[in-house]
Amino acid sequence: MADLIDPITGTKEEPQPSGKKAHPKKVRIVSESLKKFREIHAAAEAGGPPEKIEAQRKKGKLTARERIAYLVDEGSFQELGLLMETRCTDFGVKDKHIKGDGVITGFGTVNGRLAAIFSEDFTQLGGSLGRTHADKITRLMDMAADARVPVIGILDSGGARIQEGVDSLDGYGEIFLRNAKYSGVVPQISIIVGPCAGGAVYSPALTDFVFMVKGLSHMFVTGPEVVKAATGEEVDFETLGGSMTHASKSGVCHFVANSEPDCYRQVKELMSFLPQNRYEAAPAHETKDPSDRKIALLEKLGEVDPRKPYRVHHIVWWLSDDHKFLEVHHDYAKNIVVGFIRLGGQVVGVIANNPAHMAGALDINASDKAARFIRFLNNFNIPILTLVDVPGYWPGVAQEHGGIIRHGAKLLYAYSEASVPKITLVLRKAYGGAYIAMSSKLMGGDINFSLPSAEIAVMGPRGAVEILYSRQIKETKEEDREALRAKLAKEYSDKFASPYQTAAMGSIDEVIEPSQARTRLIGAFRMLAGKRRPGEHRLTGNIPL
Ligand code: HXC
Repeated sequence: MADLIDPITGTKEEPQPSGKKAHPKKVRIVSESLKKFREIHAAAEAGGPPEKIEAQRKKGKLTARERIAYLVDEGSFQELGLLMETRCTDFGVKDKHIKGDGVITGFGTVNGRLAAIFSEDFTQLGGSLGRTHADKITRLMDMAADARVPVIGILDSGGARIQEGVDSLDGYGEIFLRNAKYSGVVPQISIIVGPCAGGAVYSPALTDFVFMVKGLSHMFVTGPEVVKAATGEEVDFETLGGSMTHASKSGVCHFVANSEPDCYRQVKELMSFLPQNRYEAAPAHETKDPSDRKIALLEKLGEVDPRKPYRVHHIVWWLSDDHKFLEVHHDYAKNIVVGFIRLGGQVVGVIANNPAHMAGALDINASDKAARFIRFLNNFNIPILTLVDVPGYWPGVAQEHGGIIRHGAKLLYAYSEASVPKITLVLRKAYGGAYIAMSSKLMGGDINFSLPSAEIAVMGPRGAVEILYSRQIKETKEEDREALRAKLAKEYSDKFASPYQTAAMGSIDEVIEPSQARTRLIGAFRMLAGKRRPGEHRLTGNIPL
């Protein structure tokens, strides 16, 4: 009898020395099955062999499990598929069979909100993607889309597992399919913390936001050696596909971090602005920042020379709750600034021309950057604030031949199709086609404000005078021409270069007191909070890509 384990407490009585009357001592027994379970799990959770983990550390990288721990709330991660194994047996893989197949999948909470997470483990077969590895990721993505929670991928991989041939390519195909299918359904975030090469780069490229870490992350379709063989160009990893290359030149990367911990902190901050899925609103935050806080800075805009550059970030900081602004794509197309703020506690996406760079003119990259962000905001019910200070489109042969017509059209398309609340504030200049493009009233802006200092016209006064009065200027003596130009420009400015003619036509709803801009914007977004537009009766529009 004494050998029997109590099935409820998991203990058994230890035999007492004969004749002793004390209470029998109870000993906790670990059953064989539990022992085996724990051994298997411990081995699987350890990841790759110690020397591979050591090599990972030497490169300054965290392990796949440590990365998840940085991201999720403590103790919240629940793994799925830990015991799924590599199935391939060719080219020596049989001897390297591993549980987990080089990727950890599961879910946990980030700042208290659920997210599905996968983290590739470079210490196991170089994090390469084989059949099981792909199955784990696609199952996770399907579950996340069904449950309507965001997907966060942590990528550190040698790419398609060479030993598994087309099976691994097919695995990527299945992931790409889901990246596209669930785009606009749940937010998808990619964190690149190692190599990401070949076609593998297209999964992150299909997601909403890409994070990279300085010195650790590399993305390219063909590596330096192939580039050299094919084109003769010599280039190192960092120049070809490092974080700053993709943040400032290609636009693939939205956020750059100085270290891995810094990267996960930034991901959490981004998540705090996002809804869980397209059916929900972004989370509201309590704020003590008064909605009627006055902004003196905006009055000063009217006093400075309209050609003087300034960073529009300052205006965004002053407008937003607690002066907080999460900028997206900070290093790319700096002539336009996009990101998230809160106004009166509600998340708002900002699109703002930035006169500090290329005078804030629109060009190919700025159009692409803003259009993509607008489409994200629209998919996820985030209202749009547009701050306008734009002299026009950036001129030049390179822009025309590069397709500013096609790329600029993306911005028009994205604004026009966006059905979330859209509020526009013209700060200073708004000229020509660029005025129309920046969420003008007749292109679907819900409420369009202007500061008194704004100039809204077909073009700037100087340019207009050269075209309207070219004969008169030519016929005037050389020494008198400048005075004539100035006089005509003033006449033009007085008539057109103000917001009043536009307001008289109803294309500006209100010219507002500058110091009250925050109050007016918060009030307007509250008014529009219930805005709903019935869906269009079409499969997809044909955005000019
Ligand atoms: C199988 C791979 C692998 C891969 C790395 N490993 N990449 N195994 N398939 N794609 C293995 C290595 O053999 C090694 O195994 C271990 O991972 C660690 O790799 P190292 O080379 O020792 O690491 P490191 O020096 O840091 O170099 C990392 C690397 C390099 C730059 C990623 O491994 C590399 O160039 N790998 C190949 C990259 C590649 O060409 N992938 C295919 C891309 S095409 P051992 O047993 O020695 O520890 C692609 C197509 C996708 O992905 C298409 C989608 C449509």
